[in-house]
Amino acid sequence: EKGGWPSFMAKEIDEDPEAVANTLRGRIVEGRVALPDLDALGDDFFNDIHRIIIVACGTAAYSAQVGAYAMEKWARVPVQVELAHEFRYRDPVLDSRTLIVSMSQSGETMDTLMAVRYAMSRGAKTLSICNTQGATIPRESDAVVYTHAGPEVAVASTKAFLAQITALYLLGIYTATVRGTMTDERREELLTEFQTIPEKVRTVLGVRERIHELANWMADTRSVLYLGRNVGYPIALEGALKLKEIAYIHAEGFAAGELKHGPIALIEPGQPVFVIVPSPRHDDTLHPKIVSNIQEIRARGARVLAICEVGDAAVLPYADEVIAVPPTEPFFEPLLAVVPLQIFAIELATAKGLDVDQPRNLAKSVTVE
Ligand code: M6R
Repeated sequence: EKGGWPSFMAKEIDEDPEAVANTLRGRIVEGRVALPDLDALGDDFFNDIHRIIIVACGTAAYSAQVGAYAMEKWARVPVQVELAHEFRYRDPVLDSRTLIVSMSQSGETMDTLMAVRYAMSRGAKTLSICNTQGATIPRESDAVVYTHAGPEVAVASTKAFLAQITALYLLGIYTATVRGTMTDERREELLTEFQTIPEKVRTVLGVRERIHELANWMADTRSVLYLGRNVGYPIALEGALKLKEIAYIHAEGFAAGELKHGPIALIEPGQPVFVIVPSPRHDDTLHPKIVSNIQEIRARGARVLAICEVGDAAVLPYADEVIAVPPTEPFFEPLLAVVPLQIFAIELATAKGLDVDQPRNLAKSVTVE
């Protein structure tokens, strides 16, 4: 039930912190990741695989992309993400040392189910990450790791996205441990920080008032662009998808490095652009690059809406709006940065008087191919 919230989507965004906390619960034991659900794959499985392909659609594909950056970095195994409907019909090379991970909130998405069935028929092992107990995809897969976001009713996925990233990160740290590619010290550092994320997400929810004003002010906007690099790139894609889905506004996410290869031609005076800025503290490569991207678009008149770490002085002179998030590990930044984008979409849709829970032409669960 909606309780006191105006919509399920508003309620579900407010449940972002619990979605992370509940997906972590019981899975960090004595400084290690405990995922007994994976025993079904056999003891040496994660040492033997030579490739992971994550299949998913929509928001689940974006959470998968965030998770893939982390998994490949930590576990030193190639991880790629593919839209399930593309994967299914391109005759991919598969074998028993390929792990197919499917990502699905509902566990009933037909495109994803067909990709899983196809992979199994070609001899690959399948692992489902799913938010719905006993759904078709986890039932048919070799193993399952449940996300515990709780039921998600609004068509636009929000809290499940955070839970999906959480589950993939747990899987990544688990796999890195089994494969011996992460030191104990690094693992403990990551897991300690991971447990602070629900509280940090809660802090970010406090930006609602400001975003409410911003969205009211932008109610007539025709187009919004989103830029990010590395794990910020899928966050840009997700921010754009949320806005398209519920506010019916043209929105596009780009890898910031692509700007000069085309999209910068779209920038004209007044064009709003969200930029997901990585923390300057950890990073001497991505941060200066994104700051120069900001300068490039600002010079062409873009209205820069920066999501950055609190106190990021390099961004301040060039941003029209700064939405500050608490400091964290670079890989956890997406879990914070996505929240203002979810709020922006719902606030803008609400300012336009739209039904945010039931956007036109969309269904919560897409059970046809
Ligand atoms: O249930 P699933 O996670 O498999 O659904 C996948 C997509 O259909 C879903 O994420 C869709 O993109 C949402 N409407 C996004 O908000």
